[in-house]
Amino acid sequence: MMKIVLAGVALLLVAGSVGANGRPVAPNGIALYPDYMSWTVIAPSYREDKGQIRIITGNQTAIAALHAGTKPLPDGSVLAKVAWKAVKHPAFPLATQPGAFAQVEFMVKDSKKYKDTGGWGFARFVGNDLKPYGKDAGFVSECFGCHIPVANNDYLYTKIVKTP
Ligand code: HEC
Repeated sequence: MMKIVLAGVALLLVAGSVGANGRPVAPNGIALYPDYMSWTVIAPSYREDKGQIRIITGNQTAIAALHAGTKPLPDGSVLAKVAWKAVKHPAFPLATQPGAFAQVEFMVKDSKKYKDTGGWGFARFVGNDLKPYGKDAGFVSECFGCHIPVANNDYLYTKIVKTP
């Protein structure tokens, strides 16, 4: 009986759906971090081809390292990228604001666990139902592949936005 229950849990995790705590889980086992909107903003960004407004946030470990200029970031660092469709403000069309939620992505630092992908674990959750992206754990090669050009910045594109 126990074996069957365990097999069921393992299957759920492998299929990339919902974990024991009700949070969606990516096919590589990374569960959604529910508090990413209360982390510190690193920078906003705009992706022209996708017409999306994004913000990149980081947990305390990541923010402390980014401020100190520590590279590579230490284990426990997590960055989130949240994306919305960019829409014109109805009352002031020259202003662009976030419309429908598109997706949230995470990069999770664990230099041992994720040593094959620069020490980063990747996860993406799409749409309002936060559907885990990827058929199987192989989806990370797509993520990592596109972050390789910034290998010299610990695979991170975003830098802390400057303020006076
Ligand atoms: C086609 C290239 C490309 C792919 C594929 C890609 N990224 Fe990125 N990623 C970027 C760029 C460029 C940025 C900089 C911010 C932006 O685009 O808004 C970024 C930023 C990020 C950030 C914020 C930290 C940083 O590096 O700036 C996270 C987190 C992230 N991506 C996760 C992922 C995950 C998870 C996947 C796969 C599911 C993925 N990325 C796939 C290009 C890519």
